[in-house]
Amino acid sequence: MFADERNEFLNTAVTAAQRAGKIIRENLGHISKNDIGRKKESDFVTRVDTESERIIINTIKERYPGHSFLAEESAQDSDIDSYRWIIDPLDGTTNYIHQYPVFSVSIALEYNRERIAGVIHDPLRNDLFTAVKGNGAFLNGNRIAVSPVRDLKDSLICTGFPFRQKEQIDLYLRLFKNIFNRVSDMRRAGSAALDLAYLACGRCEGFFEIGLSPWDIAAGALMITEAGGIVTDFNGGNNYLSTGNIVAGAPVIHGELLREVKRVFEGIIPE
Ligand code: IPD
Ligand code: CA
Ligand code: CA
Repeated sequence: MFADERNEFLNTAVTAAQRAGKIIRENLGHISKNDIGRKKESDFVTRVDTESERIIINTIKERYPGHSFLAEESAQDSDIDSYRWIIDPLDGTTNYIHQYPVFSVSIALEYNRERIAGVIHDPLRNDLFTAVKGNGAFLNGNRIAVSPVRDLKDSLICTGFPFRQKEQIDLYLRLFKNIFNRVSDMRRAGSAALDLAYLACGRCEGFFEIGLSPWDIAAGALMITEAGGIVTDFNGGNNYLSTGNIVAGAPVIHGELLREVKRVFEGIIPE
């Protein structure tokens, strides 16, 4: 695959993310009770999630009618051996419903199961994070890198609470406490995709969460590795997309976080 082709993919993803971002921005504060559905406990979908997803898929399909999709609110094509777009049309729906201004759009493209491009867009700050495999990561066109901080005690660590798997809370709190006692401070902002994008550009040094979905992670993981960071599952392997258990960080910081994760989760959570 030529670099030009990858850039074409990225441009399409950027157009799709910006169109979705416009819908998200314009509808903020205009969500009524009737616009909200509950998929399961603590798992909501609004008409904006659905509209955002529709415009993203239509934008990509216009250009690439043969490609497959794994999109949170609709498409789950089974053909994953060619081009597959992994889409979170609104990451941070709970925030969005409450008008808590932290949410994003996340779009990644895989080719033969390898992630080759990713976009994360924050429509309120107008931040556009992009990455192409082998070509680095960028914020609004400027190259980004993970934080140079290597000392855990100086680090800011982001995380997500297991609010949809409340049975995990005791284990999670043990891990939280062990890490909290060793770092400068911790954040739970409510959009995993943005957490990963922030890690990629050095706004925080580490991230961990249990039970995420592929659309939360796919673009952000590529962004972090392209920005010089490390992403693994809870065993230190590469199965974070399928398990949803993810530890990410700048070099050294990642290793320290993974050590704490293993102290709590080793033998408990399968790969
Ligand atoms: C959620 C957000 C949140 C994370 C959840 C995700 P959604 O995505 O990324 O930060 O803690 O696990 O499911 O449902 O708002 O797209
Ligand atoms: Ca999400
Ligand atoms: Ca979502």
